[in-house]
Amino acid sequence: MKALITGGAGFVGSTLANYLAAKNHEITIFDNLFRPGVENNLKWLRSLYPKIKFIKGDIRHHDRITKSSKDCDVIFHTAAQTTVTKSLDDPRTDFEINSLGTFNVLEAARINNCGGVVFCSTNKVFGANVNKVPLKQSKTRYMFSGKYTEGIDEKFPIDSEEHTPYGVSKLSGDQYVRDYNTIYGLPGVVNRMSCIYGEHQFGNTDQGWVVHFIYSTITGKPITIYGDGKQVRDILYGCDLAKLFEKEAENITKISGRVFTVGGGRKNTISLLELITKLENLLGKKAVYSFSEWRPADQKVYYSNIASVKKILGWQPETSVDAGIKNVIDWVSKNQDLF
Ligand SMILES: NC(=O)c1ccc[n+]([C@@H]2O[C@H](COP(=O)([O-])OP(=O)(O)OC[C@H]3O[C@@H](n4cnc5c(N)ncnc54)[C@H](O)[C@@H]3O)[C@@H](O)[C@H]2O)c1
Repeated sequence: MKALITGGAGFVGSTLANYLAAKNHEITIFDNLFRPGVENNLKWLRSLYPKIKFIKGDIRHHDRITKSSKDCDVIFHTAAQTTVTKSLDDPRTDFEINSLGTFNVLEAARINNCGGVVFCSTNKVFGANVNKVPLKQSKTRYMFSGKYTEGIDEKFPIDSEEHTPYGVSKLSGDQYVRDYNTIYGLPGVVNRMSCIYGEHQFGNTDQGWVVHFIYSTITGKPITIYGDGKQVRDILYGCDLAKLFEKEAENITKISGRVFTVGGGRKNTISLLELITKLENLLGKKAVYSFSEWRPADQKVYYSNIASVKKILGWQPETSVDAGIKNVIDWVSKNQDLF
């Protein structure tokens, strides 16, 4: 397939580009290198696959993305302003990249008669609704109880509750993808993703907490835990997500208009405190950490019910938390200077 990956220098985009290029798919990366560090991903990809095309461009510029996406079979739309904290500080930029940018990508796909769009949405579209789910807790973690014990699924409400600017801007993109399918017949699928981690992710205190904790523990830098550290997420290894995206592109007509909740699922949940203990054991050293106030709109627990994507596409995570974390430890250890 001929694939255009917006944000293809970023963590998810470059992991996907690597996976698809290894299978001889034709890849064009469209990225403005907005996120610090991602130019290293581009260098890495081009050293492996000189045929990968790179267009330095911004999804906020509709003419540029429209010209760049002529003739592609599928657009994987991963480009975004990805942090809640930055969206609170600068909601306009967040809106322009995530809402207008996604609109521009869809318009480009419609005008160019592109085969389909695979969209990266987020659990943040559920907003504060998630915090109404009853919880149980142990010494190290919170978990959902009752109806949502298996996790949040596609039917969970998205509206009527507080969202952050990031949650709103991503939700508008999410809704636009679905509407372009119903109104214009543009094939599209929405992935409401929780926490993705892996090599080539430049995690920091604002986004990419698993890699941020790994980097900080290896280098002895201090970690701030906002809240009590019992927050739980289902973590999904980047290569497993790439496999799902390929399946989605191959089946885009069949699944068009669908939303999937995507993550590691209940089996691959971990709390902040549990990750720290795991890292201390694996690395044989103590992490340096302290606690601070909860951050606005933080969800105490979020994990995805992945039954639907499993049933419809036969996909499920293959990489265990332990195996994925060991791979990332290895990568970070060798690439500390890139952070
Ligand atoms: N990583 C996660 O845990 C996670 C969880 C849920 C959703 N998501 C979503 O997945 C997608 C990918 O996330 P990621 O972790 O790879 O983030 P990332 O920051 O590593 O990658 C995003 C890429 O988009 C590029 N970009 C930003 N603004 C752009 C613009 N205006 N024009 C062109 N390129 C632009 C950046 O330079 C970067 O390379 C995003 O849409 C994000 O909202 C990620």
